[in-house]
Formats: sequence, structure tokens, C-alpha cells
Amino acid sequence: MNSAEWRVTVVVDNQAGDGLTAEHGFSCWIESADLRVVFDTGQGPAFATNAARLGVALEQANAIVLSHGHYDHTGGVSAALRKANRARVYIHPLGFEAKYWRTDGGAPRVISMPEGVASDLLERNYELRCGTGARTIGPGAHLTGEIPRRTPFEDPGREFFLDAAGAEPDGLKDDQALYLDTPRGTVVVLGCAHSGAVNTLEYVSELTGGRQIHAVVGGMHLLQASAERVDRTAEALIRLGVGVVAPCHCTGARAASLLRERLGERVVDCGAGARFEFNADETRCAWGGAKARAHSPVDKGD
Ligand SMILES: [Fe+2]
Ligand SMILES: [Fe+2]
Repeated sequence: MNSAEWRVTVVVDNQAGDGLTAEHGFSCWIESADLRVVFDTGQGPAFATNAARLGVALEQANAIVLSHGHYDHTGGVSAALRKANRARVYIHPLGFEAKYWRTDGGAPRVISMPEGVASDLLERNYELRCGTGARTIGPGAHLTGEIPRRTPFEDPGREFFLDAAGAEPDGLKDDQALYLDTPRGTVVVLGCAHSGAVNTLEYVSELTGGRQIHAVVGGMHLLQASAERVDRTAEALIRLGVGVVAPCHCTGARAASLLRERLGERVVDCGAGARFEFNADETRCAWGGAKARAHSPVDKGD
């Protein structure tokens, strides 16, 4: 790899290739010649075993990026830090808040960052970089910070709260995406895209002065989205000219297949073990686990 080329390996996802553990959550390992980044860490159990099986050199990580505070993205942070103990950790300050999932009449479920992870981050001597705005984390790698909510059709969901009683909605302002400068355009890595996938991509486009978005990898939070919303997401991906779309985690199988109907082969299969190489002359997407085990669908939208 030269310094502008990147490899992205999915470490944790709701689906997993042979020999890997599937889990409702997301994590990937992102590397160039100059930088190695852990992006999210799943719920915890799958992270360390999958990382070891995939040959991920966690001890070489320069940064751990947390897309937001939910447990299915932050649960493996302590395991990551045990190996990557000199990595900078990037998180929005609201990622530490208590977070709940509650539907009408249902019992509240805690979906915050696990307490042990929060205390590890806050009480040990790790290099914690809390911030709300866009910033560069290393050569060719950037965080969006808070993402403006502009589209009328991307509702972040009415089931997220900051209290167990369900009185105070959680606007999920801690949600952020990572984006990479690659030879063929920008590559965007999403955690859950609670701000809306289209809001995220349009904001990345703005932050990069309109540079072509080449690929999108990650959770698009369309599990409970209307067909209209999925359709409008597909329209935006087409309008933005995105060449590779790898929807996983909270995108949901129904939305992923609707996206495939609209975008055809630009939509690629993705799960734990998938590897994407963004080189100067080609983009490679490989996942041996297209028929792999899938974690059963979840009943919550975290
Ligand atoms: Fe998630
Ligand atoms: Fe989430």
C-alpha cells in the first residue's frame, strides 16, 4: 500500500464469514501505510476473537474511533485498549450519556456504553479526544463530528431516550462517521448512521469540497425504514455517484435488497471477514462468507 491506499476489514457484524462470530454490532479495522484505526468495537464478545482470527494487529493501532455511544459499538473498547494501549480514542462527549431504547408501552432497555468501558476510558490514563466538530485524525483520515440533519425523510427514530421513563428523547448528536481520502475518491465508514445515511454523505461531500464519494461501508440504520425512505436513500446514492455500497449491521436485509434492486452490482455483500482494498488502480471487495451465518434480526434499532 502507498500512503493514499487503504484497506478496510470488517471485524464484527450481524453476519459473519467462516470461523468468525456473528453479533449484533459493528467494528472494522482500517489501515494505510501511515495509519491504523479501530472503528467501533461491537458488543465485546466477538471483537477480540474475530480480530485475532483475521490477523488484525491491534497493538499497532494509532486510533480508536467510536461512531457513537451505543453498546453494540463500544462494548469491545476495553479489549481493544488492552492491546492498543497507546491509541488515541476519539468520541463525541455525548457518547458517555445514559441511553435507552423504549417503544410504546414496552420496558426500557439500556443501550449505553457499558459502565466498565466508560470507567476505563475516563479513569485510566488513555489519550481521550472528545470533540463535537469535524477533525482530521491522521494522514487522509477524518471524522465528521456532529452531522447536520437536513433531509426531511431521515427521522433518527422515536424510540431513543436519555431516561428510562422515555420522557427525554435522545437526538443521538454523538453520531459521527469516518471518511478516508483514497485515490479514487472519498470512502465513508458508517457506524449506525443515526443522523441519516444521506445527511452523512451530503455532509462529507460538503466537508471535502464536493469530492467524489467512491464507497460507503457500514450500518445505514434502515431496519425499520419505510420503502420510501430506502428509495430516497438509493436515489441519493445514485445522484452522488457512489461506486461501491457495502450495507451491513443495522441496514437490514430488506433495505439492502431494495438498495441492490436500484443500484445493482454497486451494492456488495458485507459481513465480518469482508475486506475492501481501495488502491490507485482498482477497488477490491471480497467476502468469503456470503452464505455465512447471520445473527438473528434484532428487535431494537440501536
Ligand atoms: Fe448499531
Ligand atoms: Fe446505534
